[in-house]
Amino acid sequence: MAGEEQGGGMPAIGRREMLGVTGVAVCGVALAGCGTSDGSAKAVVPPGIKGKVIAKKADVPVGSGKVIQEWKIVITQPTSGVFKAFTARCPHRGCSVNRPQDGVMTCPCHGSEFAADTGKCLKGPATGPLAEFAVKVEGDGIVIL
Ligand code: FES
Repeated sequence: MAGEEQGGGMPAIGRREMLGVTGVAVCGVALAGCGTSDGSAKAVVPPGIKGKVIAKKADVPVGSGKVIQEWKIVITQPTSGVFKAFTARCPHRGCSVNRPQDGVMTCPCHGSEFAADTGKCLKGPATGPLAEFAVKVEGDGIVIL
């Protein structure tokens, strides 16, 4: 099991570390085709939500996040006080990704995985990142810019 010492004296590696190695190999080829240097992408803000509070800071746990199904947006807080927003639509076939666990957002349909801090594709079949929305903190809310 990942995270535990394996037999034969081999040190175990964590899930995230393993994804970092294998994920780059799986998604890296496709990202080269996207023309982005860091695997990120900017999303077009859907009409009607620009400038609106889309979540309360208190509803977005540190190291995890919250999926807002109404707008198909996932808000993450990778580190304390740093909030990010991405489209929740998986670029593979459009299923909604799950909220992050251990820094990774997983698509339940076919298993693609994305980094909670950048949206970068870590594991296919998706071939590109989750597009990011610019956000700011305003009082106790998170606002889409
Ligand atoms: Fe997300 Fe297929 S729709 S992996």
